[in-house]
Amino acid sequence: MAAFARADAAADPSFAEILALRPHLAIAPEVGLMVDGVPLARIAAEHATPTWVYAASAISGRFRALASALAEANLDARIHYAMKANDALAIVRLLGSLGAGADVVSGGEFHAARAAGIAPSDIVFSGVGKTEAELRAALAAGVGQINVESAEELAMLDALAAAMGRRAPVALRVNPDVDAGTHAKITTGRAENKFGIPIGEAPALYARAAGSRALRVRGVAVHIGSQITALAPFRAAYARLAELVRALRAEGLPVERIDCGGGLGIPYRNEPAPSAAAFVHLLRETLGPLGATLMLEPGRWLVGPAGLLLARVVLEKHGTSRRFVILDAAMNDLIRPALYEAWHAIVPVAAARWHAPATPADVVGPVCESGDTFATARMLPALPPGELVAILDAGAYGAVMSSTYNARPLAAAVMVRAGEAAVIRRRQPVEALIAQDVIPHWLASG
Ligand code: LLP
Repeated sequence: MAAFARADAAADPSFAEILALRPHLAIAPEVGLMVDGVPLARIAAEHATPTWVYAASAISGRFRALASALAEANLDARIHYAMKANDALAIVRLLGSLGAGADVVSGGEFHAARAAGIAPSDIVFSGVGKTEAELRAALAAGVGQINVESAEELAMLDALAAAMGRRAPVALRVNPDVDAGTHAKITTGRAENKFGIPIGEAPALYARAAGSRALRVRGVAVHIGSQITALAPFRAAYARLAELVRALRAEGLPVERIDCGGGLGIPYRNEPAPSAAAFVHLLRETLGPLGATLMLEPGRWLVGPAGLLLARVVLEKHGTSRRFVILDAAMNDLIRPALYEAWHAIVPVAAARWHAPATPADVVGPVCESGDTFATARMLPALPPGELVAILDAGAYGAVMSSTYNARPLAAAVMVRAGEAAVIRRRQPVEALIAQDVIPHWLASG
């Protein structure tokens, strides 16, 4: 919750406190802020701004921390990266190389996961509105699991698989009616949300699915929301899920898999957030005794802290009552502050600025909307034109939610590994903005 609330600047962590929690970042007097030893000033000089910068070490370190916590707890568990958080092929491939499968929510993500090298059998297809065409393509490719979200979808998939002569591997996503205590726009586990099958209706539907020859029912799934920084909502949801699994088994229905969803939050503002070990401990307590394969679908937790948005100050404008730092990045690049009032740390890249006197500033982009604001009344030093800043913890739901609003091309992305910065997504050329446009013949001449 705290990540979304805008409170007074006094509660904000200092630059030093921000750095202390983000081991892939360091600052040196001569070169300024670095990502895994690569100066951001060098990345800006070589690749221009705005540019997304991801630390491979942070992604692999976080994956390994989660995977080893699961192994130490003796849980039979698989991590399916929710690639909606960041669908850059290089990131999906990196996680795949470490052993992750993918959780996808569209035909497009399914395609991208395949292109990144994820085997179809390691893909879970989630989402409340999968189309027949998407389901058909996934089945034809041999998708590992389809998380069904309604009785209507189950009937559609049953008919589709039967017509194709396939057996669709399904899990029923249930809605446990638990409040995740997160921002309303990313809460998914309340009865009034569009997601999942009401938990009370699940047993009858599960029995129906188990009776179909075109379906192979594998288990149940739950996902209650995102950026959850307390364990209690997970505990409540998993307890209800465990109860359901016991009831299904009592009816003689097989439940091999339990999909625990994603949602684990990260400390944007240095607020306390559960560690991987604490989350895994909870899994072991609540779901471990059931002896099923646990499927995890983390997105943000794996990649959020690993990325930043590197931007340059266009100018500093002194309004009647406020100082505006206007960047060359905008809400079209990173929409989270505008959409969810999300708090992201913003730090200067030049070392000299870290100890300069700070005053409140509104950090904004050039888009023609007042909502194009990254931070309000943030304590920052003077940031004259040309100065670089890094907007932190932008690895998840950053680039993926970008648009070209105001005809601003999509930013480039760079991945840093072992002192090398490689482009993983080229900056969109301005010509691409109009490449799909067609002038109808009646406007073509004259
Ligand atoms: N599984 C399902 C079924 C989901 O709907 C989601 C996210 C995840 C897994 C991954 O959740 P994560 O571990 O990343 O929290 N754009 C928002 C977040 C939307 C999350 C949507 N569903 C934001 O910027 O905060």
